[in-house]
Parts: sequence; structure tokens; C-alpha cells
Amino acid sequence: MQPNESPSDSRRYNRQLIQLKGCTVNRIRIRRPDDWHLHLRDGAMLKTVVPATARSFGRAIVMPNLKPPVRTVAEAQAYRERILAARPTGSDFEPLMTLYLTETTTADDIRQAARSDFVHAVKYYPAGATTNSDSGVRKLERVYPVIEVLEQQGLPLLMHGEVTDADIDVFDREAVFIERHLDSLRTTFPDLKMVLEHATTQDAIEYVQAAPGPIAATITVHHLLYNRNALFEGGLRPHQYCLPLIKRERHRQALINAVTSGNERFFLGTDSAPHPKHAKESDCGCAGIYSAPAAIELYTEVFEAAGALDKLEAFASLNGPAFYGLPVNEDFIELEKHSWVMEREITAAEDTIVPLRAGQPIGWQQSNG
Ligand code: DOR
Ligand code: ZN
Repeated sequence: MQPNESPSDSRRYNRQLIQLKGCTVNRIRIRRPDDWHLHLRDGAMLKTVVPATARSFGRAIVMPNLKPPVRTVAEAQAYRERILAARPTGSDFEPLMTLYLTETTTADDIRQAARSDFVHAVKYYPAGATTNSDSGVRKLERVYPVIEVLEQQGLPLLMHGEVTDADIDVFDREAVFIERHLDSLRTTFPDLKMVLEHATTQDAIEYVQAAPGPIAATITVHHLLYNRNALFEGGLRPHQYCLPLIKRERHRQALINAVTSGNERFFLGTDSAPHPKHAKESDCGCAGIYSAPAAIELYTEVFEAAGALDKLEAFASLNGPAFYGLPVNEDFIELEKHSWVMEREITAAEDTIVPLRAGQPIGWQQSNG
């Protein structure tokens, strides 16, 4: 395999490998993946979490829900510099920046973002939906004039697709968002590039498969690996708590079918979201799962279990760049099948973070940088 081989060459290579080994594949090679939904936080924590992602991923769409949020191109530029300064020596990991959509975002903010070469999308949070979402949007229609500019400029709108009304069951928040908002957004802005972030339900998958116009969904590894029983396995499990919540088994199966189908509307977005251990293990624990230290290995486990290792590369490395209009990464990563145990805790500045699968085995390991 040469560094300049085409995506279809390496798909064929992996398929051959699977056939050759009669379905016991011990090693795969894929074009370097990207993470299309990532939380890196800020300050001293960057020194821990940026290398964890840069180890595997060429680029990442960086979420803007800092405190205060990243609302302007100038703020995104300064944040980008801080991320670049936290890269390991020799890394050319590229943070793809986003702006946080508020009810005071202006058409000019969007035009400036479109003119910049480092802001790649705008993120919609419904106010109160999740970590640092207080500055989010209270009524979606209020930001329609700004969404119209996004559509004109070809900048994607990334959606935390949940409603936050107190009378809606928290497990139904995504399905109700789809029902109430997605169709009207689609018909009002037929050319708007939309990404339903961290899709968790069969409803979301069916919507994205069938909707007209440019639409896609990112899917996290934790929603692929676990159903909602994991939240209560032997007791309350704060480290399995994220938003949107993990759902019933039938939804997990729908997600697995979507990612292993090869449909180019689905691509990798970890939503890796580190919080200090004390903030998760609390009487009002934060939502967020830190999956970055083994993200690509865990996705590989999911694809292997589904008998679909030959579909991993499209989901992880090809579909995202195609949607964002960016080239695929030039280089490749290799993964080997062998068991290792994830650390129980990771030190990050003054804090510790409990990663996904802490203290438990993981079946694959990336073997090259
Ligand atoms: O679980 C989550 N954590 N979901 C989000 O939408 C935000 C994220 C965070 O920033 O912690
Ligand atoms: Zn997120």
C-alpha cells in the first residue's frame, strides 16, 4: 500500500484481508480518521486532551461551548492558537473551529466566519440542553435570519438536536426535536448543510437517511457500544452519563446498522467530553464521556462485532471530509487486534479524568502514530 493510494484501494485491501483470513482479521489499516465532534476544553487541560485526540485523528471539529462560549471569529482564532500550542511536538493535528450560535449572533459574524479559513461550522445548542448551553438559543425561529446567511455562505449548521421543555421525557428529547424542528428547517432552508450531532435514536437515523438536501449525522462510540442499562449496571454509573442520553437497545442497533451501511451521510464524531472526576461523581454530576484515549480502538471493536471492518474507513475517514468539502488525510493508521487495559484515571493538570472503559480491557490498539 502506497501513501497516495485511493480510498477505494485501501477498502479493497481491507476486504481482501478479511477474505484471506477467513474473517479473523488481526490488523487493519485505514486512512487517518478525523473526529467531527470533539470537546477539548481550555487552559491546562488542553495539554492532556489535545494529544489524546492527535494520536489518531488528523483533524477535529472543535465544539465552542467554553465558558464564555466561542462566539466570534476573533475568539475562535485565539482558541485555535491555544489548541495548536498544546499539540505534541511534530504533530500536524488541525483543529477545525466552530462558532456558538446565540440569539445575538449577527449576519456579519457568519460572513466573517465564512471568509476565514479556520471556522468550518456554527453550532446550535438549545438553551439549557447540556454543559455550558446557557447562552444557547431559546426559540429557534429567532435565529432564522442568521441561518439564512449560513445557507447562503455554505457553512454547516451543527445541531444539538434536543428540545428542553420540562414536560418532555428526557429520553424523548431527540425524537421530539426531529418532529418539531427538522422538517421546517429543511423546507425553509433547502440548501442548508445540516449535521444532526450525536444521533442516538432510530428516529434520527430514519430521518437522516430519507431527508432531501445536504444532511448528515455524527455518531459517538459510546452510543454504539452501550444501551441505557449501562447507566444503572449494579448501581448509578456517572461515567456513562452524557447528553443526549444513551438509549434503548433497538436504538443502538439502528445506529450500528447506519454506521456499517456505508451510507455517506453518517460519519465519526466522538463527542469526547472530559470533566474532572469530582464533577462527574457528584450529587449533580456533569454530562460527558471522555472517549478520546481509545476512541478509534473502540469504534473498531464495534465494527468488528458487526462483521463490518471493511466499512470502518468510510465512516471514520472518508464521509466526513466529503460532507465538509475537505480533502481526505494523506496518511494511514494501523490497528492491531490485541487486548490491553485502559487506565483507571488520567491526570490532567490539577484534576483527574476517568476515561471510557477505565480499568477494563479494549480489544484493539493503534500501532502507529
Ligand atoms: O454529554 C455531553 N457533554 N453532551 C454535550 O452535548 C456536551 C458535552 C460537554 O460539553 O460536556
Ligand atoms: Zn458535544
